[in-house]
Amino acid sequence: MEKVILTKPDDWHLHLRDGEAMKSVVRMSAFQMGRAVIMPNLSPPITNTKQAIKYHNEIVRALPKESRFRPLMVLYLTDKTTKNEIIEASEAQEVHAVKLYPAGATTNSDSGVTNLSSTYPALEQMQKEGVPLLIHGEVTDNDIDVFDREKVFIDRTLTKLVQEFPSLKIVLEHITTKDAVDFVSECEKNIAATITPHHLLANRNHMLVGGIKPHYYCLPVLKRKSPHQEALIAAATSGSPKFFLGTDSAPHEKHQKESSCGCAGVFSAHAAVELYAEAFDGAGKIEKLEGFASFFGADFYGLPRNQEKITLEKTTWRIPESYNFSGSHVVPFFAGEELSWRLSA
Ligand code: DOR
Ligand code: ZN
Repeated sequence: MEKVILTKPDDWHLHLRDGEAMKSVVRMSAFQMGRAVIMPNLSPPITNTKQAIKYHNEIVRALPKESRFRPLMVLYLTDKTTKNEIIEASEAQEVHAVKLYPAGATTNSDSGVTNLSSTYPALEQMQKEGVPLLIHGEVTDNDIDVFDREKVFIDRTLTKLVQEFPSLKIVLEHITTKDAVDFVSECEKNIAATITPHHLLANRNHMLVGGIKPHYYCLPVLKRKSPHQEALIAAATSGSPKFFLGTDSAPHEKHQKESSCGCAGVFSAHAAVELYAEAFDGAGKIEKLEGFASFFGADFYGLPRNQEKITLEKTTWRIPESYNFSGSHVVPFFAGEELSWRLSA
C-alpha cells in the first residue's frame, strides 16, 4: 500500500468551543495535530490572559493524560485592548497571538473591532514583542457584496495596516481569493496566510448548485473555482513558507446549520490531514504537504517543529454522516463521501 510519512502537523486556526461541545471534538484534533491555535470567539470572548489560561486548562483537562497535544491560546482584540494587556499576554507561555475580528464579520464577533485606530497602542506593543496578529480579513459594510468582502478588506484596511506596522507579524486567516494570495505573496516575510481544507476542495458551486447546501456555508464564503480556488491550491502546494495549514474547523449543531438562517462554519477536525492530502494529491503535489502542514506554521510562529511522525495510507474510506456533538450532532465536511487517504492509528 502506498504510504506517506509526515512530521506531525499543527493546526494554526481551530475553533474548539467550550464545555461539552469542546469535549466532544477536542480529541479529533489532538489525534491529528501536535498543536493548535485556538480561536477566542467564545461567548463571552477570551479578551484577557487570565481567561485564556483558564480556557487553556479546560482544554488540557479534557484530554487523556498521555496526550501531548498543546493548545496555543489567542486573545480576542477589542477597541479597548490595552498595551498592558499585550505585555501580560506576551509573558504568558500559553498565549501566542491576538485575533482581529472586524465587529459583525462572523460568528461571535459582536465584540470585535469597530475602529481600527483605537487598537493602535495594542498593535504597537505586539509589533515590539513579536506577537502575531491573526486577521479575519473581511469588511462588514452592508453595501459591499459578500463575495467581495475579502478583497475590499485588503484594499481598504490591510494595505494601510501593513504600511503603518511594517514589522508586525500578521496572519491573514482562511484566505479565499486570488487577491489574498497575490497580496500575501508580494509582502515581506512577516505576512503569511492560512488556508482551509474546504477552500482547497470546494468552491461556491458546491454550496449553491442543485440546491442550497448549508454545510458548505462558512465565512469568508466559498468563491469561484477560477481564479480563486485554483489560486489557493497553487499557493498551498507551491512550497512557499508564507502559506500554511489552518483548518478553521468550526463545529455547529446540525439544526443550527440546517435552518432558515443557518450559521457559518465547516467542521473538518474529523479528517483534517486526510482532506488536505486529498487536495495536494489531486494537484499532483503530495510531496509538498509536509512543509505546508508541519513546518511553515511553526517556523512563522517561532516555535520548534514537531518531532513525532504520522503515517497516511492510500486507502479508500467513507466519512460518517455525522458525529456526536454536545448531546446533538455535527455534520462533518465531506459527510458520506469517500476519501482516498487515511491516517493510521
Ligand atoms: O465560518 C466561520 N465560522 N468563519 C468564522 O470566521 C467563524 C467560524 C465559527 O466560529 O463558527
Ligand atoms: Zn475561524
